[in-house]
Amino acid sequence: MSKVTTILLLFCGVILGTAQAQNACIDCHRLKTPGIVSDWELSKHSRNAVTCDVCHGSGHSSTDDIANVRIPTPAVCAPCHETQVAQFTKGKHADAWAASNAMPTAHFQPMAMMSGMKGCNGCHKIGLKTEADIRKLKSEGQGYGLASCDACHTRHAFSKTEARQPQACQTCHTGSDHPQWEMYAGSKHGVRALLRQNGTLHESIAGPTCQDCHMSKGNHEVRTAWGFFGVRLPMPKDERWAADRTTILQALGMLDPDAKPTERLETAGEIDVMRLSDDAWQIERDRMTRACANCHSSRFASGELAKGDDMIREADHVMADAILEVASLYRDKLIPRPGNYPYAFPDLLTFHNAPTEIETRLFKMFFKHRMRTFMGTFHMNPDYALWNGWSELVEDYTAIKAMAENIRFKQTK
Ligand code: HEC
Ligand code: HEC
Ligand code: HEC
Ligand code: HEC
Ligand code: HEC
Ligand code: HEC
Ligand code: HEC
Ligand code: HEC
Repeated sequence: MSKVTTILLLFCGVILGTAQAQNACIDCHRLKTPGIVSDWELSKHSRNAVTCDVCHGSGHSSTDDIANVRIPTPAVCAPCHETQVAQFTKGKHADAWAASNAMPTAHFQPMAMMSGMKGCNGCHKIGLKTEADIRKLKSEGQGYGLASCDACHTRHAFSKTEARQPQACQTCHTGSDHPQWEMYAGSKHGVRALLRQNGTLHESIAGPTCQDCHMSKGNHEVRTAWGFFGVRLPMPKDERWAADRTTILQALGMLDPDAKPTERLETAGEIDVMRLSDDAWQIERDRMTRACANCHSSRFASGELAKGDDMIREADHVMADAILEVASLYRDKLIPRPGNYPYAFPDLLTFHNAPTEIETRLFKMFFKHRMRTFMGTFHMNPDYALWNGWSELVEDYTAIKAMAENIRFKQTK
């Protein structure tokens, strides 16, 4: 939006909301919620007449009408921050709500883990909600967690300085299946940036933040070449790898036993789970290589990124073998194939709700150790790539083989 329109909008806001109503919000809330008012006072918004009612409406102005307050969505920020809202909407963060609710495992989760602010949707609340989602959240009770835009520059300071720190990503990009914070903080990249942050190193020393690599030039559209699942189309030329990836996509329910696309693959396409063409993949890879080239030679960077690709290929081979082992137990009717599993393969998307120990181990192998193997490689963390990743993956494989053998032995006795 142009500066002129911004100024006009602000001007209208000041004229429309009477000066008294604005003071009323602040005066009363200074007593009721002092932390919110003092944060707002620190923000650029307070210096630009973006008062409480600009975001929350003026439907509530006393203790009797609190239900009439507006809980803002990104649409409320859009008139003044069109660029960021448009970029965000095109990126992966915007899909986070839909992605988590589309998972088969969503139905097995306790309600508090799904309705927002806790568990799955404590992190996935960053995604845009549809009108129907918002109605549902409201009908379930309070209906907060609609904003998305307060995930990195938190309310009510809405500070760019906060958003630029790698800790702004920490709450969500952590833990079992996506420990980017841990991998980054322990890598030379993170160590440099964190020593700069605490004042030990010079303030201009090179040490990339998450944002330098993933939101370069302040671009709010986040997306990577391989994504979370580390799968993509078309299939690679390498035949062994193509066969392994087919098996993995079958266990994700995205290809059927005849390797034909399923409805799930369609949904995955809609929520941008993977890159579906070489071009789409290359755009993201080039964007990343350009970010590295601020500090390294492009040759160096491309070579390092290729090692991440190699580790996906290697991990896929071990992974696919383990999947086929479990599938063979279904085929030979040695463990029951759960009725809700769509195909002849174990369904990785049931997460930890898999019914047997061997299937649960397979889930962990995929979501925890296969992820760490390639994510650790991409994030320059040798310990995550090897000991927390590849080494554990190989151990899972041995354990799954042993469990399968045991099941077969028991049945034949
Ligand atoms: C006379 C006091 C008073 C005035 C004036 C007032 N509020 Fe409130 N407001 C409250 C109280 C009390 C609550 C409930 C706090 C609680 O739940 O602890 C509240 C809650 C809120 C909430 C949170 C609602 C929720 O669902 O949790 C927002 C947002 C809010 N007020 C914004 C405003 C805005 C904007 C104005 C001015 C247009 C305003 N308030 C004027 C007293 C006031
Ligand atoms: C009525 C217009 C308006 C609305 C609505 C609005 N903002 Fe702003 N915002 C501004 C202005 C003006 C600035 C200061 C711009 C400047 O100084 O460059 C600003 C600055 C910011 C900044 C940068 C702060 C910094 O430290 O430099 C962030 C982040 C921000 N807004 C987020 C939001 C979010 C999130 C929403 C919606 C929940 C929102 N804004 C709604 C007008 C608005
Ligand atoms: C409130 C939680 C939350 C915060 C904070 C957060 N993210 Fe995310 N991020 C997510 C979720 C959830 C996804 C998965 C989105 C989906 O379902 O498609 C994601 C996806 C991503 C992706 C896309 C990966 C892919 O699949 O290609 C990148 C890159 C990313 N985030 C970077 C960041 C960076 C950098 C920050 C900090 C500046 C950050 N995120 C802050 C929750 C968060
Ligand atoms: C601690 C925060 C957090 C929790 C809890 C969490 N997620 Fe995520 N989820 C993320 C982040 C961050 C990503 C992106 C990671 C990446 O790209 O490496 C993600 C990725 C995903 C993706 C992949 C989306 C895509 O497009 O690639 C799905 C699906 C998903 N999560 C579902 C769930 C479900 C279902 C639950 C609960 C059982 C859950 N998540 C719990 C943060 C979380
Ligand atoms: C730039 C937009 C913006 C302005 C200005 C703003 N808020 Fe908010 N407010 C938000 C957002 C975003 C949320 C989080 C909504 C959600 O849960 O998704 C929120 C949530 C709240 C809540 C409920 C959640 C909580 O933490 O208790 C209260 C209360 C509140 N605001 C009060 C105020 C008061 C008082 C003012 C003025 C001093 C104010 N807000 C100014 C954007 C704004
Ligand atoms: C994943 C983290 C993240 C999310 C989510 C996020 N932002 Fe930002 N935002 C940032 C970062 C990082 C910066 C600082 C960029 C830079 O260095 O210029 C920023 C800066 C801004 C600025 C200041 C721009 C400037 O150049 O002064 C505005 C305005 C803003 N964001 C609005 C929004 C709005 C609106 C949303 C929701 C659609 C949103 N942001 C969601 C991380 C985020
Ligand atoms: C030095 C650059 C760099 C930094 C710093 C960095 N990343 Fe990454 N990130 C990458 C690369 C490279 C990939 C893999 C891209 C691809 O798929 O080709 C990646 C991938 C990701 C993904 C997708 C899944 C995965 O791990 O492969 C997410 C999510 C992510 N990064 C989040 C973060 C967060 C959050 C931080 C900070 C805690 C961070 N990154 C720091 C370069 C970086
Ligand atoms: C903001 C600058 C910056 C960016 C951007 C950056 N790096 Fe680095 N990188 C460094 C610094 C500084 C070191 C530490 C050098 C050392 O260990 O002597 C480093 C170290 C490394 C190392 C370890 C090298 C060694 O000698 O042990 C690798 C590998 C690496 N970077 C790859 C990448 C890749 C790939 C990207 C892009 C995804 C990238 N870097 C982006 C600054 C950066």
